[in-house]
Amino acid sequence: MARYLITRIPNMAPSLLTLGLLALILSYNQHNVAAANTHHVLTSRQSNNTTLSPFFTSISDYVDSITDELSSINTEIHSNPELGYEEVKAHDLLSSFMEEQDGWTVTRSVGNISTAFMAVFEGSGEGPVVGFNAEYDALPELGHACGHNLIATASLGGALAAAEVMRTENLAGKIILFGTPAEESLGGKVKMLEAGVFKDANISVSLISHPTSSGDSPYMITTSTDRVDVEYYGKEAHAAAGPWEGINAQDGLLLANSALSYMRQQMRPSDRVHGFISSAGSRINVISAKASGSYQIRANDEAQLTNLTERVENCFKAGALATGAELNFTIRPYGYANHVTNDLLAASYATYFKEQGGELQPAEIDKLKDPSGSTDQGNLSHEWPSISPYFQITNEDGSVPATGPHTALFEVAAGSRPAFEKSIVVAKSLAGVAVDVLTVDGLLEQIQEEFEKSRMPELRRRRRV
Ligand SMILES: *[C@@H]1O[C@H](CO)[C@@H](O)[C@H](O)[C@H]1NC(C)=O
Ligand SMILES: *[C@@H]1O[C@H](CO)[C@@H](O)[C@H](O)[C@H]1NC(C)=O
Ligand SMILES: *[C@@H]1O[C@H](CO)[C@@H](O)[C@H](O)[C@H]1NC(C)=O
Ligand SMILES: *[C@@H]1O[C@H](CO)[C@@H](O)[C@H](O)[C@H]1NC(C)=O
Ligand SMILES: *[C@@H]1O[C@H](CO)[C@@H](O)[C@H](O)[C@H]1NC(C)=O
Ligand SMILES: *[C@@H]1O[C@H](CO)[C@@H](O)[C@H](O)[C@H]1NC(C)=O
Ligand SMILES: *[C@@H]1O[C@H](CO)[C@@H](O)[C@H](O)[C@H]1NC(C)=O
Repeated sequence: MARYLITRIPNMAPSLLTLGLLALILSYNQHNVAAANTHHVLTSRQSNNTTLSPFFTSISDYVDSITDELSSINTEIHSNPELGYEEVKAHDLLSSFMEEQDGWTVTRSVGNISTAFMAVFEGSGEGPVVGFNAEYDALPELGHACGHNLIATASLGGALAAAEVMRTENLAGKIILFGTPAEESLGGKVKMLEAGVFKDANISVSLISHPTSSGDSPYMITTSTDRVDVEYYGKEAHAAAGPWEGINAQDGLLLANSALSYMRQQMRPSDRVHGFISSAGSRINVISAKASGSYQIRANDEAQLTNLTERVENCFKAGALATGAELNFTIRPYGYANHVTNDLLAASYATYFKEQGGELQPAEIDKLKDPSGSTDQGNLSHEWPSISPYFQITNEDGSVPATGPHTALFEVAAGSRPAFEKSIVVAKSLAGVAVDVLTVDGLLEQIQEEFEKSRMPELRRRRRV
């Protein structure tokens, strides 16, 4: 094996995957995409048009009329946490529920992804197609500590209410509820994207939301991310009788980890590199011949992620070079792109959210916040206009959970009645956005125009093997 084996595993079938491992692949194409840092001039609608859709009362009344069903589904998902691609119960629960709804056609295991589904409500003819995404995977050991049960509930309620308006008003277009599994690290939506699920459904916009312990915001700003596994191969030797005969794999990894720590001083504020060492040896008197770890890399956008990944790679190479160990650096498939927001979708959401008593920062300030976290909705946001508002949840007693997503305290809050009620406010707001897209003359065209302007010239593509 070469001293450095740098592999990027493509998002592909196993046979290709095996090929990918054998080949020495340059992990990304080098031509740097200019950071499309667009700041749009606010349009009158978003700055100042707070006209509420005449259908909002119908939306609100309809969601209220199905609150008991939504609540029981929310609780059922929260109390039966399932890991990515194993969400059999949630998939069956939501699919069955949608099959019982008048006018909806459900495809279970859509895209041949067992726990994904698609439920379609057809309007009176050709028109905009509004996609709602429902997540429902949980975290190992922590249960629904990311509150995906609430995401499912908000999208379910939103899609049903928008479809109800479509039915009563005889509107053209379609509402589609997608069951999108495995958001946590496994890229369920990226897989669905590759299977052509969203494209074949001709979606015009993609709506979703996410609970948080911070403030409410229609602007989800997240980083592009990749995950890597590293292994060092050295040579065993007696640690006292002949250490000079060994090659210390553990030291290679520790050096790389230190190099990363030094590099952090020169990283951009939104860059992140984090991970853990999973093994480094097992016998106290033997020079360690193998060490391994896993790291995640995040940056503002594709171009910066490419740059940062190369610097991270160099840190790992340094460990190999210094110790003489061989490095196996493998970039996992299903990286996530940053989430691109859309001002017009955000403005529409803000109108309905505020109508229900919600408070939001001015958009001009809100959208300047630093990115945090990463989501596979990011990949969709490069293909279609997307919105994923954050909504702050609270505990039974109204207190905000002391810690954010991916913690035990957040898991408790995600199961509270007030958190469910907040997801209902979000459901109504998202339904409002959908109905705006379906009914406001020219709005979809303006949304698409903004989307085209804010789009990265080219999303970095993985080189296929
Ligand atoms: C405001 O929005 C409404 C629909 O929500 C639309 O009919 C109206 O033309 C908009 N007005 C302006 C000034 O953009
Ligand atoms: C609101 O929009 C109208 C019409 O587009 C414009 O004349 C007015 O100045 C705007 N008001 C504010 C406060 O931006
Ligand atoms: C669907 O997945 C199954 C099992 O994973 C596989 O055997 C089958 O060939 C796949 N079908 C299609 C159409 O991809
Ligand atoms: C999507 O659009 C294409 C081209 O307009 C059309 O042929 C196809 O039937 C549409 N698919 C769906 C699911 O509506
Ligand atoms: C990363 O970007 C910086 C500044 O934009 C540039 O100087 C540097 O050469 C780049 N590094 C890599 C590894 O591409
Ligand atoms: C390199 O590491 C990957 C991920 O840990 C592993 O699957 C693969 O087998 C390793 N390759 C070699 C040549 O050891
Ligand atoms: C999703 O985003 C990742 C990370 O930025 C990117 O590498 C990948 O090519 C994207 N995948 C698709 C199918 O868009």
